Amino acid sequence: MPDFATPPSRTNPLAGKTALVTGASRGIGRAIARRLAADGAHVLVHYNQSSRSAEELVAEIEQAGGSAEAVAANLEDVESTDRLVGDVKQKLGNRKLDILVNNAGILDQAPLGEKDISGLERLLAVNVRAPYQVTSGLVDALADDARVLFTSSIVARNFFPGAAAYALTKGAVDTLTRYLAAELGERGIRVNAIAPGAIDTDMAVGFIGTDEGKAQVKQMQALKRIGQTDDIARVAGFLAGPDSGWVTGQVIDASGGSKL
Ligand SMILES: NC(=O)c1ccc[n+]([C@@H]2O[C@H](COP(=O)([O-])OP(=O)(O)OC[C@H]3O[C@@H](n4cnc5c(N)ncnc54)[C@H](OP(=O)(O)O)[C@@H]3O)[C@@H](O)[C@H]2O)c1
Repeated sequence: MPDFATPPSRTNPLAGKTALVTGASRGIGRAIARRLAADGAHVLVHYNQSSRSAEELVAEIEQAGGSAEAVAANLEDVESTDRLVGDVKQKLGNRKLDILVNNAGILDQAPLGEKDISGLERLLAVNVRAPYQVTSGLVDALADDARVLFTSSIVARNFFPGAAAYALTKGAVDTLTRYLAAELGERGIRVNAIAPGAIDTDMAVGFIGTDEGKAQVKQMQALKRIGQTDDIARVAGFLAGPDSGWVTGQVIDASGGSKL
């Protein structure tokens, strides 16, 4: 029975925990890594090409009194993804992984028929095969009350022109979230996904990089501003932390009320 009488520490709710955040060198993953570190976790900052940015984040976390280290892998590649699993296990040593955030992803938008099928294969590799492979490879290393998070997207449930291939990868993530929650629940592991709307990152430049794009996005949303990476990091902090212990198998919409 959880101890409801003693409120969890508000200052360092993740003290003593270890987290892996994929795609933490930029955008949403970077904000999530920063938030988990601020909450006291030791964070493995995964990157692929943006090594300098990852190293800068590690330095920033350490300067703020936290603890982090960088770990590299190209998640489009099966062997590289396997190496990431091995590297993480080696870094963990005798510790367990308390928080796994499968966040790295790519976007590729085109109407049907306009691109060859290799675009879909890349999307499936990075957005679906890799999070499945990472989670599967680390399942024995997860703590018995671990939190597994995925970054999904509202495109899985709402139509956006040209986004069919990307959307199906996020639909797969939502399905994986429910299945893993059911499969890992006996170990006390909570599995949830966050579904952002448009968030101000490099990925979103194509649709919110102009005033017109921004206006279109705001018009779709109940809340009339552009979503920021910290809007998602706060939800991740909640899902990784002690207050979400009774939440599992859910896809949490964090879109400022897009397309309500
Ligand atoms: N921004 C949005 O509007 C939005 C909305 C809904 C959902 N999302 C989802 O949120 C997640 C993060 O997106 P973001 O907007 O933060 O994107 P971003 O700014 O483009 O950052 C993408 C991150 O993923 C990593 N990554 C990309 N390809 C990779 C590969 N082949 N191997 C390993 N890592 C790779 C990048 O690493 P390097 O830079 O080191 O290569 C980077 O850290 C994605 O899953 C995305 O689908 C974003």
